[in-house]
Amino acid sequence: MIWTSSLETGIGKIDEQHKELFRQIDILMDRSKDDRVNDTIKFLGEYVVKHFTDEQGMHLASKYPKAADHKKMHTDFVAAYNRMKQEYTQATDSNKLPVVLKINKTVMDWLKNHILIHDKEFAAYYKASGK
Ligand SMILES: [Fe+2]
Repeated sequence: MIWTSSLETGIGKIDEQHKELFRQIDILMDRSKDDRVNDTIKFLGEYVVKHFTDEQGMHLASKYPKAADHKKMHTDFVAAYNRMKQEYTQATDSNKLPVVLKINKTVMDWLKNHILIHDKEFAAYYKASGK
């Protein structure tokens, strides 16, 4: 998945974590057919939670008015991710690849859309608040 400067929020820590998420999605695709895919799905899920926690911490620290709405989006995404993870675990070997492709596409589409609209909205607020 290609990172482009249009995805930058201008907040260094958030941008670095977003780039890492993109990198992990690429790793997931590279490993889609080998044994390490399991670990990558697990790591990606954990990294997403860590990243959301950091972002939400910044929302609260800067008294972002949309903190609760934004947190709900994160929570819903984590729930959807965990459902796909479970689907992957339960799939037979020959059915695992389509689930990996679905995870890849879902994470990629959600993340791009979320960064472009919601994280950028927060970044504009954050920068204007002079934090
Ligand atoms: Fe976010």
